[in-house]
Amino acid sequence: MALQLSSAGFCVFRGRRALTTRAVASENVTTLKEEDKVRLGSSDVKVSKLGLGAWSWGDTSYWNDSGWDDRKLKAAKAAFDASIDGGITFFDTAEVYGGAFMGAVNSETLLGRFIKERKQKESVEVAVATKFAALPWRFGQGSVLSALKNSLSRLGLSAVDLYQLHWPGVWGNEGYIDGLGDAVEQGLVKAVGVSNYNEKRLRDAYNQLKRRGIPLAANQVNYSLIYRIPEENGVKAACDELGITLIAYSPIAQGILTGKYTPEKPPAGPRGQIYTPEVLKELQPLLARIKEIGRSYGKSPTQVALNWLTCQENVVPIPGAKNAEQAKEFVGALGWRLTDQEVEELRSLASKTRQAVGLRLDRL
Ligand SMILES: NC(=O)c1ccc[n+]([C@@H]2O[C@H](COP(=O)([O-])OP(=O)(O)OC[C@H]3O[C@@H](n4cnc5c(N)ncnc54)[C@H](OP(=O)(O)O)[C@@H]3O)[C@@H](O)[C@H]2O)c1
Repeated sequence: MALQLSSAGFCVFRGRRALTTRAVASENVTTLKEEDKVRLGSSDVKVSKLGLGAWSWGDTSYWNDSGWDDRKLKAAKAAFDASIDGGITFFDTAEVYGGAFMGAVNSETLLGRFIKERKQKESVEVAVATKFAALPWRFGQGSVLSALKNSLSRLGLSAVDLYQLHWPGVWGNEGYIDGLGDAVEQGLVKAVGVSNYNEKRLRDAYNQLKRRGIPLAANQVNYSLIYRIPEENGVKAACDELGITLIAYSPIAQGILTGKYTPEKPPAGPRGQIYTPEVLKELQPLLARIKEIGRSYGKSPTQVALNWLTCQENVVPIPGAKNAEQAKEFVGALGWRLTDQEVEELRSLASKTRQAVGLRLDRL
């Protein structure tokens, strides 16, 4: 609760007026500027306040109705280009995205291709984050460096801006953290982070890197209006205390907070197992209020849900976009701000929804 009050306090202090000067209330497309960038933790890497997630690109295991084709490829490329056009220049991928399943294409390979094609036309600044898969048969620091070199080769880059451990290792993390340190010292990455780390693992990683003079820049975790575990388990507070950026994944709850899925029209595929018609029914009051608040700003529910996250401070959401329209909509989530009352009202409404939905969302 203390955390929630202090997060709200930031919003009160900042106020609405000062941050609405560049708001483009009546249109969803705008272009972000240099002041819309933030530093990742205490590293030297600056990224747009909102990034773009590339999990769905090339994936056939969870997204894309189990199939990848030319049309989806063109749409993903258009999402990349629209994002750059709007000033969202931070992209998140992983070595395991788009791999292993029939017909899948590796997401790093696609992102690398999109960057190369864009750079052939003009000079663009892109920040790339990717991740090491802590698979049980990968031991020690050497495995981090060899996986990173493979990622760099797929991306066609000599270094990435952020390299993250995708999840904690089964046998411990010390070797992997040493591997991150080696990657920094060899100039293969500009900043390092972790993902899905609880408070204890986060503090351990922070301290181990600190002994080598390297800052732990980010922890990437599931965080959205309807999945607020980082507020409850100490992860958000520890990030704030240690100066580690919280990168929020699934920030629009895999499309649910856009309001386009209803009890009558639930999502197909694996998402439908989580967001059943019953869960979606419980979410309707929250979704209706998000929509109503958005209307008063000329903003969509997606933009309100993302803006709510940025109001928590020290949070960089990385929503996934499959096409240009979705990417353009994300740009309009920045450059304006919900009031502190709206932030708290939505938090409280989401908490009631969570109680009603019970444990079902904990499967996320
Ligand atoms: N570290 C980790 O363990 C981890 C785990 C998960 C995700 N991530 C990262 O976080 C990123 C984002 O998370 P996510 O992809 O799980 O979920 P998300 O960003 O909450 O939702 C993305 C999905 O919502 C739908 N959508 C996006 N924009 C929309 C719009 N404007 N209007 C309507 N629908 C829209 C699209 O799916 P449909 O069009 O099919 O509805 C899209 O694929 C990933 O790409 C990945 O980079 C990391």
